[in-house]
Amino acid sequence: MTKPRDYTKLMSELSAEYAQHSPQSAALNQRAKERMLDGGSHSLRLIKPFPPRMVSARGAYITDEDGHRLLDFWQGHYTNVLGHNPAVITDALARAFADGFGLQAGFTDRLQIEVAELICQRTGAERLRFTTSGALATMNAILLARAFTGREMVIKVGGGWHGGQPWALKGVYFANGAEPWLVETLGLPVALTNQVVVSRYNDCEMLRDYFRQYGDRAACFIVEPFMGSGGFMPATGEFIRTARALCDQYGVVMILDEVISGFRFRAGDLGSTFGIQPDLATFAKVLGGGMPVAAVAGRAEIMRLCGREGGSKVRFPGGTYSGHPASMLAAKTLITYLIAHEAEIYPRLAELGARTRQTVEAAFAAEGIFVRCTGYTNEVVRGNSFVVPQFPYDEKQPLASPDEVNDPAICDAELRDHVFQVAMLLEDTHVVHGGGSLSIAHTEADIAAFGEACQRVARRLKPYL
Ligand SMILES: Cc1ncc(COP(=O)(O)O)c(C=O)c1O
Repeated sequence: MTKPRDYTKLMSELSAEYAQHSPQSAALNQRAKERMLDGGSHSLRLIKPFPPRMVSARGAYITDEDGHRLLDFWQGHYTNVLGHNPAVITDALARAFADGFGLQAGFTDRLQIEVAELICQRTGAERLRFTTSGALATMNAILLARAFTGREMVIKVGGGWHGGQPWALKGVYFANGAEPWLVETLGLPVALTNQVVVSRYNDCEMLRDYFRQYGDRAACFIVEPFMGSGGFMPATGEFIRTARALCDQYGVVMILDEVISGFRFRAGDLGSTFGIQPDLATFAKVLGGGMPVAAVAGRAEIMRLCGREGGSKVRFPGGTYSGHPASMLAAKTLITYLIAHEAEIYPRLAELGARTRQTVEAAFAAEGIFVRCTGYTNEVVRGNSFVVPQFPYDEKQPLASPDEVNDPAICDAELRDHVFQVAMLLEDTHVVHGGGSLSIAHTEADIAAFGEACQRVARRLKPYL
């Protein structure tokens, strides 16, 4: 049962305090809005009433224009598993720049081969092509699937965010109505959005039903093996294996969008942990070592359609900055480091994730507020460095699918996404969607400090809940 909660008064108090706390960022926000819509270029970063403007970052911390040192769980939009600006990468880049290597984009070189080999070895892909963003990667993966199958339709799941590209702008944010997953933007051809159908995460029955209805017209099924911004929850083994079997049965290309999960759970893909191989996978974020690198990788038979041997039928020619030398160097340095230290890094990330989830829940519980974090593990995904506090109204509510954490009748998403975020900025802590991701630069002391900050905020929130 939803309780009516009104945060107007609290938000205006928090905003006023925050304006005093961060006057430089407030002033810069006014200037930013003169030229950039909402003051920036990525809506998640444009915190209301205004975001802290960064000047430097190291490890788990960022420093803003007002001189605050903020504990950060955003970590480069979930890219920085080693923390911000790790010396292993910045030293490699500094040496390369000093030697006259780094910005000569537009050529081929040895590094691109080495990074491609590493990605294929670590993900089971046969061939790949680089691009510069996750959105371009998923768009090209879908183009390839459509060309390969000669079919039109795309099956995705509600809450799945695959970047700002035409086939991905449906069924992202929960809409409170008879049709929970809508088209997100004006400007798309209706014929295109009609080709996208939206099933439900971790719901095998619905997926079977969708394949019965659309399977023989579907080019691909695209899904994240670990749901990112839709709710930070792992897919169940049954869901991914059912999807694989249905794709085989109906001749549908299975695309695992590993933009978030790739190299975050192990030094490679997450899909193989489920015991399956997708037909295509997309990678970005962690892979680039903090630089813009993305890739579409998969079966040679499908990938060849964008190369000369396949008649270059799919126009996925790359892009000005694809395979950019400085980015490839960062990617190679990071992947090599992750492989060499896999046995320490991933268990450590998992341990930090588990400890943070417990700490956050305990901090709220101490103030009598029920919080359950998503980001928990399951029988396949054994360790996980994401932590997102959810505020369900019913303590017994399962939180296994994006609709469950984003339906305002089930969870208080306004509290998680907005109120809590501003309250935590006053604690010099930077969270997005209420939490974020750990890096190996986070320490036990950071987690304890996070817990204390959560408890102070919980005390402040209590009268409004
Ligand atoms: C799972 C997933 N796919 C694709 C994208 C899009 O990537 P990009 O922002 O690099 O275009 C994102 C971005 O957050 C993502 O989380």
